Amino acid sequence: MVLDALIKIKNEVDPTLTFRRSCREGICGSCAMNIDGCNGLACLTKIPTAGDGTMITPLPHMFVIKDLVVDMTNFYNQYKSIEPWLKRKSPNSDGKEILQSKKDRAKLDGMYECILCSCCSTSCPSYWWNPESYLGPAALLHANRWIMDGRDEYTKERLDAVNDEFKLYRCHTILNCARACPKGLNPGKQIHNIKSLQA
Ligand code: SF4
Ligand code: SF4
Ligand code: FES
Repeated sequence: MVLDALIKIKNEVDPTLTFRRSCREGICGSCAMNIDGCNGLACLTKIPTAGDGTMITPLPHMFVIKDLVVDMTNFYNQYKSIEPWLKRKSPNSDGKEILQSKKDRAKLDGMYECILCSCCSTSCPSYWWNPESYLGPAALLHANRWIMDGRDEYTKERLDAVNDEFKLYRCHTILNCARACPKGLNPGKQIHNIKSLQA
């Protein structure tokens, strides 16, 4: 995998080479980078056997801290802004867990698997041009994840919070996000769901 090549280079050629990685199995989302023009996870991307070599660059349109490490502050703040946790109005007086039917649980498929790697957001042209005002596909996918959670009692407030010309409606359904996602998710589809609930 490309990550093995980077580790080999760091160990044997240039110990200053800097990149993020942790799990090496597509779970932590740390090793996102641009490999031969496509965003992806270095630990899941095979080293091409043909051609003249591989071009590896940091995630596009992000501020670079060093080598392949980009500043994720804005991305994480946007994730935080959608309040990614269960919110209830009615008290849970008996202290027991709040149960969910299998049908309601299935509504979260295609969203709960997100590892917040940011491959989608950093491949989205609308996010490139408006990174501070447009929430981007990853944060909006998570907004929809909580909007669709039957246990959450702040659905209307969540819809109102993203109902904004820039936060939500900068998505023009170009679907680069779905092409870039290493987990096979389709953030564009989840954004469309939020828009249809607003209508
Ligand atoms: S569908 Fe929306 S979020 Fe996805 S790449 Fe296009 S504009 Fe960006
Ligand atoms: S939707 Fe896919 S590409 Fe986007 S942050 Fe989640 S796992 Fe990464
Ligand atoms: S090292 Fe964790 S996703 Fe690649």
